Amino acid sequence: MGYTRRHGIFLVILHLVSNTPVMASNPKPNFVLLLADDLGIGDIGCYGNDTIRTPNIDRLANDGVKLTQHITAAPMCTPSRAALITGRYPMRSGMATCGERFVLRWIGVSGGLPPNETTFASLLQKQGYSTGFIGKWHLGLNCESSNDHCHHPLNHGFDYFYGLPHTLVYECGGVNILDAHLQAQLKLLTQLMAFAVMTLVIVRYSNMLTISRNLILYSALFTVLFFITWYLKYGFTQHWNCIILRNHEIIEQPMKMERIASQMVREAQQFIERNKNAPFLLIVSFLHVHIPLVTTKAFTGKSKHGPYGDNVEELDFMVVFFVSGSVVNTINNAGLKNNTMIYFASDHGGHLEVKEGELQTGGWNGIYRGGKGMAGWEGGIRVPGIFRWPGVIPSNVEIDEPTSLMDIYPTLVYLGGGDLPKDRIIDGQNLMPLLTKQKPHSEHEFLFHYCGLHLHAVRWHQKESGAIWKAHYVTPVFFPEGAVGCYNARFCACEGDCVLHHDPPLLFELSADPSESSPLDPHVDLYKTVLNRIKMAVAEHQKTVSEVPAQLCFLNNLWRPWLQPCCGTFPLCWCDKEDSNVTEILG
Ligand SMILES: *[C@@H]1O[C@H](CO)[C@@H](O)[C@H](O)[C@H]1NC(C)=O
Ligand SMILES: *[C@@H]1O[C@H](CO)[C@@H](O)[C@H](O)[C@H]1NC(C)=O
Ligand SMILES: *[C@@H]1O[C@H](CO)[C@@H](O)[C@H](O)[C@H]1NC(C)=O
Repeated sequence: MGYTRRHGIFLVILHLVSNTPVMASNPKPNFVLLLADDLGIGDIGCYGNDTIRTPNIDRLANDGVKLTQHITAAPMCTPSRAALITGRYPMRSGMATCGERFVLRWIGVSGGLPPNETTFASLLQKQGYSTGFIGKWHLGLNCESSNDHCHHPLNHGFDYFYGLPHTLVYECGGVNILDAHLQAQLKLLTQLMAFAVMTLVIVRYSNMLTISRNLILYSALFTVLFFITWYLKYGFTQHWNCIILRNHEIIEQPMKMERIASQMVREAQQFIERNKNAPFLLIVSFLHVHIPLVTTKAFTGKSKHGPYGDNVEELDFMVVFFVSGSVVNTINNAGLKNNTMIYFASDHGGHLEVKEGELQTGGWNGIYRGGKGMAGWEGGIRVPGIFRWPGVIPSNVEIDEPTSLMDIYPTLVYLGGGDLPKDRIIDGQNLMPLLTKQKPHSEHEFLFHYCGLHLHAVRWHQKESGAIWKAHYVTPVFFPEGAVGCYNARFCACEGDCVLHHDPPLLFELSADPSESSPLDPHVDLYKTVLNRIKMAVAEHQKTVSEVPAQLCFLNNLWRPWLQPCCGTFPLCWCDKEDSNVTEILG
């Protein structure tokens, strides 16, 4: 029975993690950060979902602090992740969405996390930490050649990297999903066109008919262009974007979707095993629950919510490996457990526009309005946020103060013993006073909700009254009318005809109206008082924003052949250096 086997392997790993020496002499805590991709706040049991089973994430929350107002700096992968790792709003590093270029689009682009940004990993590294990053990076790779790796994790404070330098895209799932039918047809069409051109050539040069040279040239050119377009869209994407690196080496091109979950677990476990005697930072950046939702057999068809629910439940199972100490209490877990802070979050809210037929296969954001890509609406930016550190952070506590994923930076630097950079603005705040209940309120009075370079909304935590206000200056235009989402596109855009400017701004009392359903009447005094305060804060904030090179705009986000990592002979990039025995872990 699958369960028993999994259980057995699970015990082996427990054993490895648990039988480590007590680290009484080591005052620096370890950090394990678990980041899910596109997971909605409404998808998890401890945040109110009663049909998806996430017992392990729930257990983590039960043993620690659950943040109920944990906010991402952007509703999109690349910008949100850049903000997390730099502790700064994404436009400060140039990593903000640029027009319809929401994220870094290919591995072979020159944009990425600039080398002069200092991540918390590099500060911890200087404090003697072993630092590892496993999973999805999506913060760029190369600047000038196919292997300069200027944006690579190893160039940003990590000693070890295993994972996907880019992000999952549909094509990573192989040919047998969604576009497979279309792909086959296009391939056939290209072949037919090539055949027709050959026939024309033969007919002309055997003098059977007088065919103009131009006709041949034009048809040949057309066929070549058609082939290139087709291959760029359907063939190359998988080979070029879906690759796995170990440190600087390509080990899979294209990656094998069906075994990556197991490999990530194994890599994480080996990293911990290698570094258990030193303080370590491990970031596990899950590929779950991003499309194409490839789930191992053990979890396929098991949830009540189709492929999406299966994938969430598999994610939860992967989390087991990192919270193992708390799952089986009979095991003597005196080792790492009390000296390790575990954090769990998602990079932004669920993606409402993702559907397969009628079935919604993106995430669920609970009572919150909006989702991935929708700027200021709560559903795109309010995510699960859980901290566990037995003996230091209390257990079974819920905190409803505004916190940000950018807070990880100053919190970890504070705990790891480093100093924050003084030559730049860090937007995050140290969370320890809040998490340990030394202070009742978070340090965030204002949070600014950007869509690309545009300020769409502002949140004000009014300390005296405890109220949370949110003003929306700009909101996306939903399609079809009355829907929540831009179902005419994959994402809502941040500007132009795709948005509505509000003057006077929409103002919600979020603390009383978390679903942002009834805006305040602009004529009441309260509206004016609140708006004035917010306006002053915006003016102050905008003074701190300066222009930096945009990493996601046209030129930096354009695929270039010479930046494309390739294992083999370009453009036929293929290799698999992974041993094939690892699928077992997740069955
Ligand atoms: C649980 O999650 C599923 C899938 O995202 C969603 O359809 C369902 O409405 C959620 N249930 C609750 C109670 O939030
Ligand atoms: C770990 O922390 C818990 C909670 O404070 C405590 O009960 C336990 O004794 C600690 N274990 C060790 C080995 O210090
Ligand atoms: C990094 O370099 C760019 C110019 O290349 C500059 O605009 C930016 O301010 C620098 N960032 C930091 C944090 O020094």
